[in-house]
Amino acid sequence: MRLGGVDLTGNLLLAPMADVTNLAFRLMCKKYGASLSFTEMISSDAVVHGNEKTFLRGMTCEEERPFGVQLFGNCPETITSAALSIEEMFEPEIIDINLGCPSPAITNAGCGSALLRSPDVISSIFSSLCEDVRTPVTAKIRILENMEATLDIACRLEDAGVCAITVHGRTREQGYQGVADHSYAKRIKEEVSVPVIANGDVRDGDSAKRILEYTGCDGLMIGRAAMGDPHIFYRISRYLEDGEVIEFGCEQRRDDLLEYIRLLEKFDLVDHVNMKAHSQWFTRGLRGSRGIRLGMGNADSHSSLMDCIRNMCGDFEE
Ligand SMILES: Cc1cc2nc3c(=O)[nH]c(=O)nc-3n(C[C@H](O)[C@H](O)[C@H](O)COP(=O)(O)O)c2cc1C
Repeated sequence: MRLGGVDLTGNLLLAPMADVTNLAFRLMCKKYGASLSFTEMISSDAVVHGNEKTFLRGMTCEEERPFGVQLFGNCPETITSAALSIEEMFEPEIIDINLGCPSPAITNAGCGSALLRSPDVISSIFSSLCEDVRTPVTAKIRILENMEATLDIACRLEDAGVCAITVHGRTREQGYQGVADHSYAKRIKEEVSVPVIANGDVRDGDSAKRILEYTGCDGLMIGRAAMGDPHIFYRISRYLEDGEVIEFGCEQRRDDLLEYIRLLEKFDLVDHVNMKAHSQWFTRGLRGSRGIRLGMGNADSHSSLMDCIRNMCGDFEE
């Protein structure tokens, strides 16, 4: 897939996820076949005010490229000014704007999915951005209850000059509940000529294949299924390429978790992630995982957490 002048190696993208998609995690996903990863959303106000967290969230390294930075906000001037700073600081291949976050902390400020109710503001944000910023711009939207209104947003985004649109097939009201409705991504793909990426409930090779075929979309964005499981990109890629179902066991998960922690240490990120939560995600679905999680939860130091992880496959069989 080609996105904003960049030839991606494939069409599986890592979704932006707050408190999840840090540089170490993005690198793991890239290693397993994610063609493009996004930072968690960064406040355009915070960027403009030089907030320190911005630097941590946008931090990258050559090995990661191509990568995308996601911004949120609601003021065209502030978003453009933040995008120009991000462009200068991190030189991302893509700048994505969040039009989907349903959290009241974000929507009460008129940002994220709240913007979907203000199509004129969307036009104004994206026209200004696409005109003033060199970096290609993408948008990540949620669906509205009404197909026509959703198509109107997609057409406005295309007219303003975005190079791709990601469609999460849930409404703001649904949050993360219910099943993603991919009929919207399918219709948007028929309507616009920029690449469209379907997002929502891609969990394995089978769901990936089904959603790609049904929507005719150019790519897929994977969110929750990748939390604690960066290896999912490899399994889905192999399934899409040749139908092969790759085994995925306890040892692979333990090794991935150890590598993830090594990368967090390398980039000095250990103190900025919830280590227990992140470690526990890596044991999801394993037989005996409750015991593993309890052990991790009881770990009272970094070294006891590491011991627990190292012992992971010895005590608990799948
Ligand atoms: C913990 C968490 C954090 C998220 N943070 C963001 C974010 O910063 N920006 C964004 O556009 N979407 C965010 N999302 C939404 C995901 O990018 C994705 O659209 C959603 O989870 C649906 O995809 P999935 O079914 O593959 O998880 C977040 C989701 C989760 C679970």
